[in-house]
Amino acid sequence: MIKFKNGHKLTFACASGALGFDGRGWFWEWPFRWCGLLDPTAFTVVAKTITMEPRKGNLSLWHPWTCVALIGSKRTGNKGATNAIDLTNPGIRGWIEDCYPVAMSKGYKIAASVRPNDSSEARQMAGLLAPLQLAYIEVNVSCPNSNDVPTEIPQILRALQSSDHPIVLKLSFDQVNPTFIGAVDDYVDAYHAINTIPWNQMFPNRPSPIEHYPHGKQGGVSGTYLTDPALWAVRTLNTITGKPIIGGGGIMDIWGVRRFERAGAKAFSIGTCFLYYPWYPNQIVMDYNNKTYSAPRG
Ligand SMILES: Cc1cc2nc3c(=O)[nH]c(=O)nc-3n(C[C@H](O)[C@H](O)[C@H](O)COP(=O)(O)O)c2cc1C
Repeated sequence: MIKFKNGHKLTFACASGALGFDGRGWFWEWPFRWCGLLDPTAFTVVAKTITMEPRKGNLSLWHPWTCVALIGSKRTGNKGATNAIDLTNPGIRGWIEDCYPVAMSKGYKIAASVRPNDSSEARQMAGLLAPLQLAYIEVNVSCPNSNDVPTEIPQILRALQSSDHPIVLKLSFDQVNPTFIGAVDDYVDAYHAINTIPWNQMFPNRPSPIEHYPHGKQGGVSGTYLTDPALWAVRTLNTITGKPIIGGGGIMDIWGVRRFERAGAKAFSIGTCFLYYPWYPNQIVMDYNNKTYSAPRG
């Protein structure tokens, strides 16, 4: 468990993107929530990433399959997804007006996930988020789908610290190295390892199932394909920093959680499992709390 400076205790986070912008989930997840099989209150809900201004990105609720596709292999047992959403979002003001109040009214513990372009935007976002009741702010400067990855990351983190909320930095696989962590370590309360890995890095010689759509992108890979690189990232981070680590990447059952725990993660993040089995992440939390072991998935 991670205990943040504001008293928030984190063991299980629902990964950004898994339960939409307000924690109620995407519309196909609602029936599971209505019948109690999916209970967001068991998690710290990390909202889908927001930017300063609204951003169209590639996600349309009319044809989500053009930018999110499930991928898997019967032979290896892998289950994952590739997504090229590219930060579709209503902008921070829209999120504060329409999404945050819904999460509050439902009693969800919510963390904002933000992607400022530079330190000036980060300062503005910090000011807007400061009065809110947040578990923490997760900083997503590791999204593989956006071409405009910001360069001044330490300055962005310092600006966000002015919100007084705890800061969690979500890392890409490539950011797990002593030089990068050395530059940001003073400005974060915890790390989250790792974000999706670009398709061409994971599968250099394979076409992506979504690249033929008009956006032309291959997407970022999530799910069990990510587990080994994510475990490596958690282990490596533990040799570089003393800050606590949220581990995630392909957690599909209690056994996945145990692997991250053994690698040194203090809390766990579940994403793609919600796409495959929306009812199962709550079972994982129950298994962990009751020290029971359901049959492996994934
Ligand atoms: C459909 C989808 C949307 C996602 N959206 C975001 C996002 O908005 N911000 C972010 O930081 N990560 C996003 N992610 C990455 C997840 O939060 C998570 O870090 C990653 O998928 C690895 O965990 P998992 O294998 O359990 O899914 C998204 C992943 C998926 C599959």
